[in-house]
Amino acid sequence: MSLKHLANPYVEGNFYVVFWEENKVRNVNQSAFGAYSKPRFLTEDRLQIKQLINLSVPSKSEEDAGNDVIQGLTQSFKTLPPKYFYDDPGSKLFEQICELPEYYPTRTETEILRQYAGEIAQITGACELVELGSGSSTKTRTLLNAYEALNYPLRYLPIDVSSGILKSSAEQLLRDYPSLQILGLVSTYELALQQLMPTQLPTRMIFFLGSTLGNLNRQECEAFFSQITAALSVGEYFLLGVDLQKSKQLLEAAYNDNQGVTAEFNLNMLKHLNRRFEGNFDTEQFEHWAFYNENLHQIEMHLRSLRAQTVRLKALDLSVNFEAGETILTEISRKFNLNVVQQELEAKSLKPLQVWTDSKQWFGVILCQMQPKGINQ
Ligand SMILES: C[S@@+](CC[C@H](N)C(=O)[O-])C[C@H]1O[C@@H](n2cnc3c(N)ncnc32)[C@H](O)[C@@H]1O
Repeated sequence: MSLKHLANPYVEGNFYVVFWEENKVRNVNQSAFGAYSKPRFLTEDRLQIKQLINLSVPSKSEEDAGNDVIQGLTQSFKTLPPKYFYDDPGSKLFEQICELPEYYPTRTETEILRQYAGEIAQITGACELVELGSGSSTKTRTLLNAYEALNYPLRYLPIDVSSGILKSSAEQLLRDYPSLQILGLVSTYELALQQLMPTQLPTRMIFFLGSTLGNLNRQECEAFFSQITAALSVGEYFLLGVDLQKSKQLLEAAYNDNQGVTAEFNLNMLKHLNRRFEGNFDTEQFEHWAFYNENLHQIEMHLRSLRAQTVRLKALDLSVNFEAGETILTEISRKFNLNVVQQELEAKSLKPLQVWTDSKQWFGVILCQMQPKGINQ
């Protein structure tokens, strides 16, 4: 059976593992992950990738039908969900952003993880690692190194909407960690969290790095913490990386780099929508605009229309009018206060056990443990 012949990988996602090569689709065999202690060297035995959403074609499932695009572009204050940044070119551009001198979050969080991953592994013990928005899984290596150093079995579940980067990073990890087993989920966070199977290791840690939490507004953030709580059993762990409040100057520089990579990343969302929904956005007719909203403690990233224009997204049967200067909000990146975010976690039964920051206090990493519900609510 080929991927093309899988009528609806979303509906069948519980039952099929979709391998990337077209002719390699086979039934999920959960027990394939049964023997954790035995290192396996055959890549195919150690890697399964399950496709819960199919982003390459519009489908009828709520998750990828483009309803969120219609909703965002038809309101008076236009918005688009940040997940549309991340097609293959978008994921590559994000990797370039992470290397930029102005973009401090990646290197700061990596520095914290390098320093404290051993402590995290000591606290959790042998643990299944579930990463939301895994991207290149670069920082994940600090955790894998720490668990490997303690001779713990290595089982990793990367979850990302961007299938290309998920697959290539999983393959690279398998080459570098001979005992690692990976079950990748091409999925939104929400869908994947609903479908997590009970872990076969003593415990589990869901982690969410890169301050991607900052892309969620307050209500979304609260709903997201509830989804984490629902996905974890009592005693399991949640590790969260958050970017902290700092000067407007530093923050605005990070989202307006001199080389224009962030601008390209932002505009790439329009190219992605063109491909995905048969659109005719002209990227020459929009410009990147990012600033720090000090009242809301958030970076706001927009695409500004350079003239009055109408854009058509044929697959969504949608025409959108723009006035000259009108913007689409493509991303917020909230900047956090460590005490406040800890209180919010605790209110959701996610008890902070340890908090680590860098020497400049620019970034924070919080390790929480799931408490019986109701203890802190
Ligand atoms: C800001 S990047 C962070 C990548 C990496 N975790 C890091 O710390 O550098 C966000 C990642 O989340 C993925 N992503 C964005 N929205 C998502 C969603 N709704 N569900 C699942 N993955 C999503 C993107 O494809 C991307 O890889």
